[in-house]
Amino acid sequence: MTLPLADGGARDSGAGPVTRRAHDGFRQRYGVPPAGVWAAPGRVNLIGEHTDYNDGFVLPFALPHRTVVAASLAEPAEQAAPAEQGWTVWSEQSGEEIAFNTADADRPGAVDGWGGYVAGVVWALREAGYAVPAARLAIASDVPLGAGLSSSAALEAAVLTALTDLGGLGPDRLPVDRRPALAQRAENGYAGVPCGIMDQSASIRCRAGHALFLDCRSLDVEHVPFDLAAAGLAVLVVDTRAPHRHVSGEYAARRAACERAAGLLGVPALREVPVDDLPAALDRLPDDPTRRRVRHVVTENHRVRETVTLLRSGRIREIGPLLTASHASMRDDFEITVPEVDVAVTAALAGGAYGARMTGGGFGGCVLALVDADAADRVAATVGAAYAEHGFPPPTFFTALPCTGAERIH
Ligand code: GLA
Repeated sequence: MTLPLADGGARDSGAGPVTRRAHDGFRQRYGVPPAGVWAAPGRVNLIGEHTDYNDGFVLPFALPHRTVVAASLAEPAEQAAPAEQGWTVWSEQSGEEIAFNTADADRPGAVDGWGGYVAGVVWALREAGYAVPAARLAIASDVPLGAGLSSSAALEAAVLTALTDLGGLGPDRLPVDRRPALAQRAENGYAGVPCGIMDQSASIRCRAGHALFLDCRSLDVEHVPFDLAAAGLAVLVVDTRAPHRHVSGEYAARRAACERAAGLLGVPALREVPVDDLPAALDRLPDDPTRRRVRHVVTENHRVRETVTLLRSGRIREIGPLLTASHASMRDDFEITVPEVDVAVTAALAGGAYGARMTGGGFGGCVLALVDADAADRVAATVGAAYAEHGFPPPTFFTALPCTGAERIH
């Protein structure tokens, strides 16, 4: 069996194919080279699922896959009166060029599809009181779409980084720790997706060689060393290619259930419930599904902290059982897995992974497995064979090392 096991550790150093495609796309489209090129990555979440909107803890890391934006301020002739200002955006992936002006950017939902994430960033910045310069953008990306690897957050983060830089909003005027909330606002308020703050934080704040331990209430971060290569380990990412089923409705339903449960328990968010108080809290809840949703969130927050404790002392292999317990909790208590991801996790463990879990919002998407670097092919083969047995379409694989967050690359 030939497995397309890509080396996710090699970063696009700035002259790699995606960067070049965005740069060349700009030049072809607009006839001049761009003023600059910016990039922001997709992410996998090591552990801490559906905890972000409960004010809890998450531990994502940035992928080598990135969305790249080549951009320039609009030509002087286009620098019309502020109300007429406009943005022109070409996307290699869709093959489309779209244009919108301030009126569109100020009306959430007026631009839809992928363009809504771009217009949403302009809207969120303007709503927060920042002037956004008219600009021309060309976008290319190798973040897989629809695989739960945060392609939308990568797009928002890349556009936000480009537009703020072009507009002279350096980190002194718009600190990096305030940027994820603006990107999230673009997604919640303009594109209408009720996500938490994890993906945008990962895409903007991650550091190479580290996982990002984020407190989703205080927005404090700790860059936790996660040097897989030095430990002879790899994270194998399996794109299960399971069709996303009812994702947005189910995501919103889980979020609503958590908020309702917090209300019943008299706390602002489930983050408040310590794991030691869980049995007493569960006794106060009215039905079994609500109890299981709460149990997932409370135990998952606890697992994130335990994972961080192990990583701080370099005991990477030992996080395996926590990853696998997280998966069981998502499957049995939060009920967000599907047969394809459960089969991939079981097979990865049978193939020798230290731990494995679905990553991201659920109902499809990707599974990650912590493996010895030299066992990645074997684990992938075991997952591939299990898929064939079940008659599922073949999954795809790559190994990923933690990469850097959003940055200017040219
Ligand atoms: C999606 C959302 C995130 C987070 C995860 C689940 O990726 O965008 O905010 O809630 O699901 O952990």
